[in-house]
Amino acid sequence: MVTKELQPAGTLSEEHEMLRQAAREFAQNEIAPIAAEHDESGEFPLETVRKMGKMGFMGIEVPEDYGGAGMDTLAYVLALEEICKADAAHGTVMSVNNSLFCYGILKFGTEEQKQKYLRAVASGEAIGAYSLTEPMSGSDAATMRSRATREGDGYSINGRKSWVTSAPVADYVLLFTMTDPDKGAKGISAFLIDTNKSGFTRGKKEPKLGIRASATSEIVFDNYKASEADRLGAEGDGFKIAMTVLDAGRIGIAAQALGIAEAAYEASVKYVQEREAFGQKIGEFQGTGFKIADMKTRIEAARGLIYNAAQAKTRSKETGERYTLQASMAKLFASETAMFCTHAAVQIHGGMGYSKELPVERYFRDAKITEIYEGTSEIQRMVIARMETGLR
Ligand code: CAA
Repeated sequence: MVTKELQPAGTLSEEHEMLRQAAREFAQNEIAPIAAEHDESGEFPLETVRKMGKMGFMGIEVPEDYGGAGMDTLAYVLALEEICKADAAHGTVMSVNNSLFCYGILKFGTEEQKQKYLRAVASGEAIGAYSLTEPMSGSDAATMRSRATREGDGYSINGRKSWVTSAPVADYVLLFTMTDPDKGAKGISAFLIDTNKSGFTRGKKEPKLGIRASATSEIVFDNYKASEADRLGAEGDGFKIAMTVLDAGRIGIAAQALGIAEAAYEASVKYVQEREAFGQKIGEFQGTGFKIADMKTRIEAARGLIYNAAQAKTRSKETGERYTLQASMAKLFASETAMFCTHAAVQIHGGMGYSKELPVERYFRDAKITEIYEGTSEIQRMVIARMETGLR
């Protein structure tokens, strides 16, 4: 069953609708049937990820000249939402490839870097990752300990990064590391790392609560040699690049949260129409009906914030204006909506909501990460408050 999405009038073109339909059919036919198995085993779904690349889902905003689908941000969120309705773990891989990897190169890369990395990652042939966090530096991202020190014409990189989505399978990593520790945030630089080169190893794989089919691990640099041509942007521009890319990433995580919330909602509507207790459908109890009403209202409010942020990002290509506020509000509200809806869905399903026989408990586990990665809800509130008040 697919419930009716409300959408701001006139925002979706025929092309958007066609992409959404293609993503919906692919997600329901190819991903939904394998989601529970991969969640249980934690095995990375390489085959469907490659197929998603062939469908154009891994580089939706990458221009066709670089092997992408050449569409806009609204197209990206519509497709991601559909993938995440079937399985959020597939959506995590898709969002990192699109926003955290390809977008950074599109915005800050040289022509040579665009040619080298975009075609491979946008087609799904290669997998990209983004690495900012370290064991002792999470929300306070500027306090990193890893280092890239000048060596001849290039750099030698050393240190340990953690919580890197797709790291166990990534071909390339967009890495943020310190080139000038005395300068704090202004001493951070970005590098494009080839995981096949010596000096790079993959560390401990994280056993996770949710999005278990997406692979996450530490990565370790031991005298990894990078050249000037491997640096993305100027020396010292790394923190701004990291934040700019995260603004785009946060719209993707918001769309992921929306997809999870919708999956939980649709399962709940169906269940309350069928399940009976005390001689009536459980949806006829006002307490259950109120849950359905609150879920639907929050989902549509989240959708509005997400589509608004997506359009702000598309506009920024022309105006250069930041869409930080719209992205943070969309991620904050959509992730809390995903938690609200999946919590309600488990409660509505009762014992069956707690059983692995239905996907509802997986939605509940998957929803939690959207309040944590790419900036916790506390960080989103901090960003929003700073932007509104001008205070720090
Ligand atoms: N766009 C462009 N520039 C930005 C920016 C943005 N969104 N946000 C900040 N900047 C710039 C500022 O303008 C400032 O530049 P100037 O000094 O020239 O004015 C510079 O960056 C430093 O900014 P702040 O002083 O605001 O930096 P801060 O140290 O106070 O940190 C923060 C701000 C919002 C807390 C930031 O550190 C942050 O977002 N933290 C959370 C990090 C995060 O999301 N981590 C998740 C990593 S990815 C992941 O989850 C794993 C994965 O694989 C998916």
